[in-house]
Amino acid sequence: MVELIRPDVTLHREWLDFLADYDQPGLDGGSVSDELLPVMGDPEVFRTWVEQVHAREHGRELPEGRVSSTSRWALRDGEIVGVIDLRHELTDLLLAWGGHIGYAVRVCARRQGVATEMLRQTLAVATRLGINPVLVTCDEDNVGSRRTIEGAGGVYDGSVEGKRRYWITAADTPIGYAARPLGLDPLRGRLVELRLMSNDEVRALHSGERRPDWASDFPRPDDLDGAPLRDVEGLPGREWSSRLVIRRSDHLVVGTLGFYGPPDPADPARTVEIGYGLVESARGQGLITDALRLAVPAAQASGATVTAHTAYENVASRRALERAGFTATGERNAENDLRYVRARS
Ligand SMILES: CC(C)(COP(=O)(O)OP(=O)(O)OC[C@H]1O[C@@H](n2cnc3c(N)ncnc32)[C@H](O)[C@@H]1OP(=O)(O)O)[C@@H](O)C(=O)NCCC(=O)NCCS
Repeated sequence: MVELIRPDVTLHREWLDFLADYDQPGLDGGSVSDELLPVMGDPEVFRTWVEQVHAREHGRELPEGRVSSTSRWALRDGEIVGVIDLRHELTDLLLAWGGHIGYAVRVCARRQGVATEMLRQTLAVATRLGINPVLVTCDEDNVGSRRTIEGAGGVYDGSVEGKRRYWITAADTPIGYAARPLGLDPLRGRLVELRLMSNDEVRALHSGERRPDWASDFPRPDDLDGAPLRDVEGLPGREWSSRLVIRRSDHLVVGTLGFYGPPDPADPARTVEIGYGLVESARGQGLITDALRLAVPAAQASGATVTAHTAYENVASRRALERAGFTATGERNAENDLRYVRARS
């Protein structure tokens, strides 16, 4: 039986046995730099590294450009037989190439289903963290990894620089379950990034200035209505303010999404309302579905009940809300728009 455990400082000897039985340069999914591998025999180096791996799971001690990740060792009969690392977000590099998950199995334990089992258990962790779908990549000629990923239901999405890219979708992800509450950092999904506006961007929006990274039809009047009216940096509750929707395929700003303010502390349901919109040229590409998958669970993880209003005729918006787990309440607002609620899970 393979059990995934957190890297454990008491397993130094087992870790060195594992490394001694590994045949590739670097260690995929080991959460360890190439420079550290040869000095792992030093107990102090090992201990510091294990502590760092624990910290990184919670977003601490992250080197520039790295995202938090869950690193696990696969233990079988007291031996470390594999390693696996789940990156919690996709940077541009991970989206193009590295994916959410990396893994490796020691030579003597290969072709015994270890990678398959590590991936299965880690996909369950991803689901609990609200990471869905999951991107897993492998080298074009890595038959073992390719079969592992395809066996887990990976859907091929093309190759980039010799890496095959696969998306694995958990059909039963409880939408609305996310580990991390809404913060000031960008939220990154498969198709979009949601980034809070800077003071400069707020001013540019209201002054009619055009920016090179804005789609030609951005902003729409609704983007202006929803945008903050003054400088936002440093304001309390800024995480609830309007965000730019950035299409990851070309890095263009194609819309906005935000909450009309933080929850009212006097409201026991902590209700917030979400608003969003895309320019014409960005519609029909699944971008709002991806954006809601990011923003709604984060708001819920902050303890909020999320509501939305949309016109009955706006089929795309209604579909996106329904996919994100909202249900129509039957009520309408002053503009006669339907009210939707995503209950706290
Ligand atoms: C790729 C790797 C992780 C596979 O680990 P593993 O534990 O041997 O994989 P599994 O036993 O779970 O096998 C999964 C599938 O791949 C097949 N497979 C594994 N190795 C294979 C090989 N060398 N050739 C052909 N098929 C292979 C298995 O038969 C199984 O297929 P099936 O389910 O259709 O029977 C392992 O070879 C490894 O660590 N390689 C070096 C690091 C690496 O490449 N990491 C992945 C980076 S993306």
